[in-house]
Amino acid sequence: MEIVASGIRPTGNLHLGNYFGAVKSFLQMQHEYNCYFFIADWHSLTTRPKPEDIVKSAQTILAEYLACGIDPEKATLYIQSDVKEIAELYLYLNMNAYLGELERTTTFKEKARTQPDNVNAGLLTYPTLMAADIIIHKAVKVPVGKDQEQNMEMARKFARRFNTMYNTELFPEPASFSLSDKAVKIPGLDGSGKMGKSDGNCIYLYEDSASIRKKVMKAVTDSGPIAPNSDKPEVIQNLFTFLEIVSTKEAYNYFNEKWNDCSIRYGDLKKQLAEDVVTFIAPIRERIEEYSANLDLLDKIARRGADKAQESAAKTLKEVRQIIGFRV
Ligand code: TRP
Repeated sequence: MEIVASGIRPTGNLHLGNYFGAVKSFLQMQHEYNCYFFIADWHSLTTRPKPEDIVKSAQTILAEYLACGIDPEKATLYIQSDVKEIAELYLYLNMNAYLGELERTTTFKEKARTQPDNVNAGLLTYPTLMAADIIIHKAVKVPVGKDQEQNMEMARKFARRFNTMYNTELFPEPASFSLSDKAVKIPGLDGSGKMGKSDGNCIYLYEDSASIRKKVMKAVTDSGPIAPNSDKPEVIQNLFTFLEIVSTKEAYNYFNEKWNDCSIRYGDLKKQLAEDVVTFIAPIRERIEEYSANLDLLDKIARRGADKAQESAAKTLKEVRQIIGFRV
C-alpha cells in the first residue's frame, strides 16, 4: 500500500467545514493507503503555546478525529513530539536548506509580517520540519489544502537534494493530494462562501442540538425571490449547497421548487436544514464526549500510535545516519 502522511495543526475544534473539507477524505484514505496522521505539536511552538495547553489541545484533536471515525487500527494516529526521530531528521535537512529559499517562502514572509516581535528560526525552518514529517515515513502522498503547495514544493526539493547529495534514492518525492479539489466546500452561515472559525459562521462538531438550531435559524438570507425561476443570490445558494450536503435529495428538490415558484419560506428551509445538521452531528458529538471523558484511552491510543510511527521513523533514520556517515 502507498504511504500517506499528513499533519494536523492543533488549532482548536473541528467544524463542519473541516469535516467535509478534510476529515472525510482521511476517513476514506485510511482504507486505501498506509496512513500516518499526526498532530503537529512541534510546529505549534512557533507561536508560543502555554505549557498547560499542549497536552489539552492534542487530546481535543485526538478525541474529535477518533469520533469522526479515524480508526487507530487502520491509520497510524500519533503526536509528532512523541517521535523524536523526526527532530533528528529535521536537523539533517536543515544543514542543506538555504537561508535564501527559506526566507522566500510566502508563509514565512506572511508570519514575519504578522508577528514581527517573534520572527524565530522555527518559523523560518517550518518547511524543513514539514519535509521531515513526510519523508521520515517515505510517504508518497500528502493530503493537504492548496495553501500548503509551497511547503510541499520545498519538501520535494529537500528530499531530492538529499538524494542527489548522497547519491542515493532513499526518499521518494512526495506529491500533494489536493484536499481542496475533492473537498465539498461548506458555505458559511453568515453569507460568506466558506465556513470558517468566525462567530456565527460555523457549526462545531461538539455543538449541542439547541445551539446548532439557533445558529442555523440565524443564517443570513434575503427578502426572497422576485420572479419565478430566477438565479439564486450567493447567500441563498449557500443555504442550498448546505442542504445538498446534509439533507436528502427530496428535501433539496422540494425547496428548490418552492424557490422557483416563489413560494419559498426561508424559515421552513432553515428548520429542515437545522434538523438534518443536528441528525448528522449528534452521533459524532456523543462520541467526542465519550472520548473526552476517557483520557486514559486517548493516552493509550496516542502511545500505540507513537510506537507504530516510531518503528517506521527509526528504520528510515538508521538508513539516513548510515548514508551521512554516522555509525548506527
Ligand atoms: N503545515 C500543515 C498545515 O498548516 C501541517 C503540517 C505539518 C503537515 N506537517 C505536515 C501537513 C506534514 C502535511 C504533512 O496545515
